[in-house]
Amino acid sequence: MTDVTFRAATASDAAALSAIYNFYVETSTVTFDLDSWSVDDMIHKIDSVEALGMPFIVAELDGDIVGYGYLSTWREKCAYETTMENTLYLREDSRGLGIGGRLLDELLERGQRAGVREVIAVIANTTDATPSISLHERNGFVRVGEMRNVGNKFDRWLGIVMLQKSLA
Ligand SMILES: CC(C)(COP(=O)(O)OP(=O)(O)OC[C@H]1O[C@@H](n2cnc3c(N)ncnc32)[C@H](O)[C@@H]1OP(=O)(O)O)[C@@H](O)C(=O)NCCC(=O)NCCS
Repeated sequence: MTDVTFRAATASDAAALSAIYNFYVETSTVTFDLDSWSVDDMIHKIDSVEALGMPFIVAELDGDIVGYGYLSTWREKCAYETTMENTLYLREDSRGLGIGGRLLDELLERGQRAGVREVIAVIANTTDATPSISLHERNGFVRVGEMRNVGNKFDRWLGIVMLQKSLA
């Protein structure tokens, strides 16, 4: 575990990152995506985060990519520009080792250096996402909202909770 390192993502990471993400698209309600991402979709996301000047980082354990996280636009309108939404995914076999907490710390630190003031986590209000909700709460995120029945996946209506952390 002590060997986890972080670095900026590049296009050559996209195949590994889309494989991590697509596991959750296909099996879990933690993401409301219904269709898998192609490698090009992931490259496009890496490029768009970089164009925003925001961090998109990968976590490596002994040289192996075990997760990733990024900050991206919360709302398009310009006055929201110092508020970002965070995203974190670990490879299934790398969960429960405390890597998520270190990834989140690293992401927030880089976000703060990039001028981010407020971070919003939009998390499914389902048992699949309980680990994510507790991770964010442990990190100091505070629940600021809840919406019910805003998504439909696996023939179930799903809600979300929103948590916020100020870096200002
Ligand atoms: C959420 C996530 C980033 C947390 O990272 P992590 O390194 O596993 O975090 P931790 O090791 O600190 O464990 C956090 C909690 O998850 C639980 N957990 C770990 N692995 C688990 C697994 N495979 N299934 C269910 N719960 C698990 C831990 O027991 C812990 O619970 P606690 O807070 O009640 O003690 C990671 O589990 C993950 O990638 N999950 C799937 C994707 C996801 O939900 N992303 C967030 C979308 S908003």
